[in-house]
Amino acid sequence: MASGSSDTDGTDRGIDASDGNANDRPIEEYPLPPGPDGYPIVGNAFQVVRDPFGFYDVVSTHGDVVQYSIVGNTFTALLHPDYVERVLVSEHERFERYLFADLGLDIGAEGLVMSDGEQWRRQRGVMQPVFTTDRVQSYGETMATYADRATKRWDDGDVIVANKEFSRLTLRILAEALFDLEVDPTSDDEAVVRAARAINERADARRLSTFLPGWVPTLADRRFERTMDDYRCRVEELIEHRRAVGADGDDLLSILVRAGGSGESALSEAEISDNLVAFLFAGHETSSVALTYTFSLLAQCDDVVDELRAELESVVGDDRPGAEHARDLEYTDAVITEAMRRYPPVYMLFRRALEDVSIGGYRIPEGTILTLPQFRLHRDERFYDAPEEFRPERWIDGSKRDRPEYAYFPFGGGPRHCIGMRFATLEMKLIVATVLRRFDLELLSDPDPEISATTTFGPAADVRIRLHRR
Ligand code: HEM
Repeated sequence: MASGSSDTDGTDRGIDASDGNANDRPIEEYPLPPGPDGYPIVGNAFQVVRDPFGFYDVVSTHGDVVQYSIVGNTFTALLHPDYVERVLVSEHERFERYLFADLGLDIGAEGLVMSDGEQWRRQRGVMQPVFTTDRVQSYGETMATYADRATKRWDDGDVIVANKEFSRLTLRILAEALFDLEVDPTSDDEAVVRAARAINERADARRLSTFLPGWVPTLADRRFERTMDDYRCRVEELIEHRRAVGADGDDLLSILVRAGGSGESALSEAEISDNLVAFLFAGHETSSVALTYTFSLLAQCDDVVDELRAELESVVGDDRPGAEHARDLEYTDAVITEAMRRYPPVYMLFRRALEDVSIGGYRIPEGTILTLPQFRLHRDERFYDAPEEFRPERWIDGSKRDRPEYAYFPFGGGPRHCIGMRFATLEMKLIVATVLRRFDLELLSDPDPEISATTTFGPAADVRIRLHRR
């Protein structure tokens, strides 16, 4: 399928990335985007809250640039990869990141996820070198060790709740990578574990209904704040300890403490602490959701599992899967890529227009919140044959070449793309390899699970898998 096809209503609205300025027409002369009817004041809020994913079926009937409103906020959905590219990459400076603060999630105002402008740029500069392919390899040993230990605890015939099991596993890996801490995710003793759990629960409770007015602090809010205060105290304690013993480790905390010294890029205490909140939020449930769906899909596709095992046999042989094999695990990579196409853990990105812009022949007024929904673009028939099918081959059979780049963006794009992308990819590859070498999978839950619209695209109900030792 070629890129640059016309919009769904058949009219060519100019997918050219430079549209709007190409013929020097003033932006004010462009019409506002079309969109579904809403109610006075609340706009489309009820439709969104009732069925956020189904609402986008309605949205997409209006074209690739579609406006709707929720309680006084104007949203515009962008449903074409070229528009996604403009917002995230080529014209990124015209848009700012939007949402997390509005969700009421305390995920570190001074950290990478929440900050903007110069503060964000400086921190990204400090942390980018920590997440290069080579540096991430050094976390491979931790990932492989924890994956190995988890699968050794499992027995023939065990039923695992995949979403919980992988959430615990990815938290163990992250705590080690961030803090050099060995945690027990099933215990309440460690403030890091309590914070990770609280962030997840909080994210869960903050559905899209957050946009509705009338939010008042509750008991749960205060409990959440106390947990986050404990976590910050714990992080400070760990920072002090690093300073005392000399921070020469490979964990992120040591690296941030070293960067905290002096000079232009120095990170303040608050920035170090808030980054560790941000990473706890961004770096574990996302990978867990991706793994849950990957295994759920694999359990339904014997031929894919056969192919994957053949690759493992030839690349890994009798060794323990490790970072040194990752580069050659091409089919494994395609499997994970395809799973994240079907079920993107982060299913929608949000940006706010900092000025009036025109996209696809429409005027997007300053202040408009743009939504870039992976869950729609990743399943768009214009870019994927049989989008509902799980076909890892589509990433290695050459058809990728005909697809616009931003028809697939599970890790976002442009300067604010996921800094943990290589970390997550290595982690997922090693976990998939370790599990599949030891077990056959039998899916006991719904093969096409209902999705919950929280901060990740997690399954609404537990995903149960029975393990059969090979
Ligand atoms: C499958 C797993 C993951 C997925 C799908 C994912 C997805 C994303 C996406 C889409 C963004 C961009 C958000 C936006 O542009 O609005 C992002 C940002 C981010 N991710 Fe990930 N992520 C994953 C794993 C991780 C891991 C393992 C870490 C840390 C070790 C991490 C840390 C971050 C951070 C810190 C940001 C903010 C970057 C910035 O604003 O400069 N992520 N992630």
